[in-house]
Amino acid sequence: QKDEYILGIETSCDETAAAVIKNGTEIVANVVSSQIESHQRFGGVVPEIASRHHVEQVTIVLEETMKQSGLTMNSIDAIAVTEGPGLVGALLIGVNAAKAVAFAHQKPLIGVHHIAGHIYANQLVAELKFPLLALVVSGGHTELVYMKEHGSFEVIGETRDDAVGEAYDKVARTLQLPYPGGPHIDRLAMEGQPSIKLPRAWLEEDSYDFSFSGLKSAVINTLHNAKQKGEEISPQDLAASFQESVIEVLVGKTLKAMEQYKVDQVLLAGGVAANKGLRSALMTAVDNVGKELVIPPLSLCTDNAAMIAAAGSVLYRKGKRSGMDLNGNPGLDI
Ligand code: KG4
Ligand code: ZN
Repeated sequence: QKDEYILGIETSCDETAAAVIKNGTEIVANVVSSQIESHQRFGGVVPEIASRHHVEQVTIVLEETMKQSGLTMNSIDAIAVTEGPGLVGALLIGVNAAKAVAFAHQKPLIGVHHIAGHIYANQLVAELKFPLLALVVSGGHTELVYMKEHGSFEVIGETRDDAVGEAYDKVARTLQLPYPGGPHIDRLAMEGQPSIKLPRAWLEEDSYDFSFSGLKSAVINTLHNAKQKGEEISPQDLAASFQESVIEVLVGKTLKAMEQYKVDQVLLAGGVAANKGLRSALMTAVDNVGKELVIPPLSLCTDNAAMIAAAGSVLYRKGKRSGMDLNGNPGLDI
């Protein structure tokens, strides 16, 4: 049987990325160009700057990817591209690049949902076993997704306000740490004690939804009140307390959903999957109930195109094809 090669393109936020995946599971080439330095001094991603970087980078990244793969466009079976959600101007660069390549080489075009991509990053390191549960945690997303088979996504819980990564970044900002703040809080948390009382947003008894804005405000208030009283607060202890609250709720809801949905496998996905505290707490919890947890390596947790090509491969086999009218959709539903 002939090998299948999918070219993936991702430009939904601040990384310009392209990759080639063989048979849905094997990375042949994977190139990511990050713009993080251009956004750092603004404390977050500036959409207009992101679009400009994508325009400058997308052709270079595509050429580098094909060069790394050692293949010609003849061997490529389809072009998969992130169509949403994300920044509209950023998405459009990738979608239009994908359309141009697909048209020029007469290849099928497949629009991919960014979160499906994050989930399918796991297929590059393990065999997916259905039914499964995916915990997607990033700067823009916090979702618990139930999958009964390939390509089927049921969002059973999501954030009602801030995404986890966003809460990390905002808390880091109040502690005057650089953007993105997640890794800094993670590091501080390891050095501190969770001795400061902070709330846990469990919401309604039967809900798998999340909320992190109350926790974020509690951290800001704690710092503010201490300052007014002239008291010192240890940033390490505050980070540890914040992280404990986040992890308790994420792990608690995931465990409960595992039981209710009778899944055997849990996938962790998105940039916050880099969090050491979350990784180890989830590992222990899933292990304790005798189930399997899959976590991709860091480079596949953050935005990349290998994950988009992996998800694209599944859709390709299911017969999904997008037309030349494919558009960037910032609010795309999974
Ligand atoms: O998936 P990603 O690269 O981009 C989005 O699609 O959002 O995720 C980036 C987010 C940022 O909010 C960043 O602060 C967070 O992931 N992050 C972390 C850690 N490393 C990255 N959050 C907590 N702990 C970390 N170690
Ligand atoms: Zn992402």
